[in-house]
Amino acid sequence: MKLFFVLAALAMAVSVVNGYSDDDAWKDYKKKHKLDYNIAGDDGRRDGLRKKIFLAQRERINKHNSESNNYLQALSEFSVMTAWEKKQFLGIDSSRVPSAEFLKSIPVFNSQNRKLPPNLDYRDDTCMPEVKNQGGCGSCWAFAAMTPLEFSQCKANGKLVDLSEQQLVSCDSVSSGCNGGWYVSAYNYLQNSGGSANETLYPYTAQTGVCQFQTSTVETKVSTYGYIQSQNATAMQAALQQYGPIAVALNVVDSFYGYGSGVYDDKACDGVYMINHAVVIVGWGKLKGVDYWIVRNSWGPGWGANGYILIERGVNKCLIELYPAYVKAA
Ligand SMILES: *[C@@H]1O[C@H](CO)[C@@H](O)[C@H](O)[C@H]1NC(C)=O
Ligand SMILES: *[C@@H]1O[C@H](CO)[C@@H](O)[C@H](O)[C@H]1NC(C)=O
Repeated sequence: MKLFFVLAALAMAVSVVNGYSDDDAWKDYKKKHKLDYNIAGDDGRRDGLRKKIFLAQRERINKHNSESNNYLQALSEFSVMTAWEKKQFLGIDSSRVPSAEFLKSIPVFNSQNRKLPPNLDYRDDTCMPEVKNQGGCGSCWAFAAMTPLEFSQCKANGKLVDLSEQQLVSCDSVSSGCNGGWYVSAYNYLQNSGGSANETLYPYTAQTGVCQFQTSTVETKVSTYGYIQSQNATAMQAALQQYGPIAVALNVVDSFYGYGSGVYDDKACDGVYMINHAVVIVGWGKLKGVDYWIVRNSWGPGWGANGYILIERGVNKCLIELYPAYVKAA
């Protein structure tokens, strides 16, 4: 009986805080994200279904944020999506992921005995392009491949470049366009095809499409690329210092979509040996005693912390230290 009252009081506190009801929250969310689920003649059924997902996510987020955690959750454009819809924003072709034997064979990264600073942050570097948005196309691998190449090219000639992800999505036949691919295969494709096209001349459509690459649009060529020793955070730091941002893959679980701030350390992404998303590491640091990577996603600047997420470093969190790769522009 007592428990019932506590629960009832809690439920009321959640649904109406200072007169702010679930309905108000739903209206505000739709307004913020410019959503309208009303269709004539369905008696608000579609709106009701989305509202149900939204309220469940909101409750989960509020619960997480009321507990003591290293990171906070936040509402995002994903808060109304089904699991299947969210999956469309990933894009790893698992048949391309290297074997455990191969990983063991990667040579120790030659760090040239560099001294590693306590922090490195390329987010505001003049050679860092704006955060992109892959949309509902499984092309994370193309976006993860491009940022390090763009950065490297800019460092070489001092001019900010914007390279075509669409070229990879439509033309790299080893990968599967919007159905997934692999960033290291993308570098191999770029080396063999003559180079990477200018984004303006080959813009992103978020569809697999047909290859329309012309060598006259090449902006950048790949000089060298390769894997960095797996599960060696020091080697990854040395590579970041030497080459700039590096491409990595990781296991995205539900809480990742709702990342807000702090150092992400969800245990849910550790156990399962599954890689489903590619992102870019652009630096490292430490917050309240926890080491982190600064990770750039391709879900637009509205997601996470201006498009970025801090992920715990040195513990292979979400498998992020399994497949690091570097690239150097020619
Ligand atoms: C890409 O092409 C556009 C249109 O021709 C051009 O204005 C721009 O300077 C090119 N980008 C770079 C980095 O050269
Ligand atoms: C990790 O990488 C660093 C830097 O390249 C290297 O000195 C070290 O030996 C590597 N650690 C292992 C366990 O191989």
